[in-house]
Amino acid sequence: MLVLWVTLLPTVLSVELLKDADFDSTSTYGGDETDGGWWCVQCDAVPSTDKHTGSHSVKVTNRKQNWGSVTQSFKPQGDHKYSFRAYVKILNLAQGKVYHSMETLLEIKGSNGNSKYEQIGTTPHLRPGSWHIVGGDYHMPNDAQEVRVYFQISEPQVNYLLDTASVEEIPHITDLKSDTSGRIDTLRKNNINIKVTNNNVNPSGLTVEVHQTSSEFGWGSAVDANDITDSQHKKYQDYFYDNFEWAVLENALKWYSMEPSQGQDNVALPEKAVDTLRSKGITVRGHNIFWAVAQWVPNWQKQLSASALKQAMVKRVTDSVGHFKGKLPHWDVNNENVHGDFYAQQLHDPDISIWMFNEAHKAAPNSLLFLNDYNVVSQNDATVAFEDEAQYVLGKGAPLKRLGIQSHFNGQPIDYDLVKHRLDEVARVGLKMWITELDIDDWNENTKADKYESLLRLYFSHPSVEGVMFWGYWDGRHWRPNAALANGQNVTPNAAGRRVKQLIKGEWRTNESHPVREGQNLRVRGFKGGYTVQVKHNGNIIKTEQFTLGDNGVDLTISLSGSGSNPQVNNILVG
Ligand code: G3I
Repeated sequence: MLVLWVTLLPTVLSVELLKDADFDSTSTYGGDETDGGWWCVQCDAVPSTDKHTGSHSVKVTNRKQNWGSVTQSFKPQGDHKYSFRAYVKILNLAQGKVYHSMETLLEIKGSNGNSKYEQIGTTPHLRPGSWHIVGGDYHMPNDAQEVRVYFQISEPQVNYLLDTASVEEIPHITDLKSDTSGRIDTLRKNNINIKVTNNNVNPSGLTVEVHQTSSEFGWGSAVDANDITDSQHKKYQDYFYDNFEWAVLENALKWYSMEPSQGQDNVALPEKAVDTLRSKGITVRGHNIFWAVAQWVPNWQKQLSASALKQAMVKRVTDSVGHFKGKLPHWDVNNENVHGDFYAQQLHDPDISIWMFNEAHKAAPNSLLFLNDYNVVSQNDATVAFEDEAQYVLGKGAPLKRLGIQSHFNGQPIDYDLVKHRLDEVARVGLKMWITELDIDDWNENTKADKYESLLRLYFSHPSVEGVMFWGYWDGRHWRPNAALANGQNVTPNAAGRRVKQLIKGEWRTNESHPVREGQNLRVRGFKGGYTVQVKHNGNIIKTEQFTLGDNGVDLTISLSGSGSNPQVNNILVG
């Protein structure tokens, strides 16, 4: 346990850079921009005993401008990265609003004395009565001399409490491979102890071969429901089954696909795809029940009254989650609701997500329900918003069980320090996470291979991540063809596809062969998952057993008594 704890500790211990970060020294709020403490610019600040932590928060009222905000500055180091966070509770709503949005804004002064402003995060759904998390992260320019942080709500009439603020430096990963390898060993592997006994039939020439047949960590991809079932697309299918154990239908389970006009029922295609995949031992995620972004809501819903829409939503839960009950262990519930709020607006119900989670849970209590969003690790703007959304729905008792981090990267260089920081930030919610839609849009297959490798090492080494789903693999069927792992009519792996397979089916799989003697203890440190072990005599299989390696390790005694040259298969499920 101690070893695990030490291995997972961050490499740099964080130091708080704000003065009176918890607003408990109530005499410090009345400063001005020169004294280095809190200052209320274009607003009034007084202590409040309604606090998030400590003894007080600051109450911000009388905001004279939309940028009126409590603020503090600090001196950063150029080229270093910082994380910013605080808790906010709004005290009122502007007329016609069901919630408000808060932006965390930085004013960065360069060496020439000029300032530039950067918005580093937006938390969109602040409701009165609840503490919400705001903040973001930022990579300082080389010449940054001074940084001032502001917490802004566009409507000046909205008053708020702010508490538990923090600015910390984000640690730099100097060597990603060596930084992650210890954690990968601790988290993803365990011991297999094997002893061969009663070897009276074959006194010498024995070998034990350990073959990993499945992975506890989920590796999967989005697939096209038609291509994965249609016999014309055998190469597409072969690539999938050769690489992955999990699937998600890219589009066929979406509401707009299943019910493009009201009452139409397109369940046959997704059903065929789900059944085909499951019959081949693939586990399938459900994506998605509802989609909060208006662009992806079927047009027929936009004309419905609130009550007719709600009725259609009840039916949708039955037609999707209920219909596939027992077949889809994951469902994305209100997809991308950090970036949209179609159903909340149409129904005038800011808590519609909570209703969705509860209904979906009733329809299939064993499915794990997800929030699923983009720009959570690939950009700085949605990390804290996503964390806040999760914390909020959990606080309301919704059966949210997992966090889905999409992970769509564009062609820019990837900052792995920030990706790791953002994963850690979201992990504070306390739920396990899946990388649900990984792709990297890079036309250069070699730099793309390097980026996929580094991201996979980061994800595989993170204690909260349980699986990684690619958002497609073939350029003939990819929303961003340059992100593909395989190209052309023959679905030929490119450099990125080869690298990914080398990692997920090579470096991170256990396949070993050892000569053994009667009574000898053989120890193999294996990746967690399903296994077949074969005992061979002079190359012929004389015994086969199967087991699952999990958190408890495996002690296996293989008795050869009675085994001649006829193979025997035993199933042992351990840990
Ligand atoms: O099937 C029709 C085809 O018949 C028609 O000829 C063609 C002409 O445009 O359109 C085809 O449908 C397209 C469909 O993908 C299948 O390729 C839609 O227009 C197109 O809008 C749709 O885009 C999908 C998009 O979500 C919207 O649903 C992408 O394939 C899919 O990769 C993308 O996936 C999303 C996730 O669901 C959520 N997160 C972001 C991710 C990427 O945008």
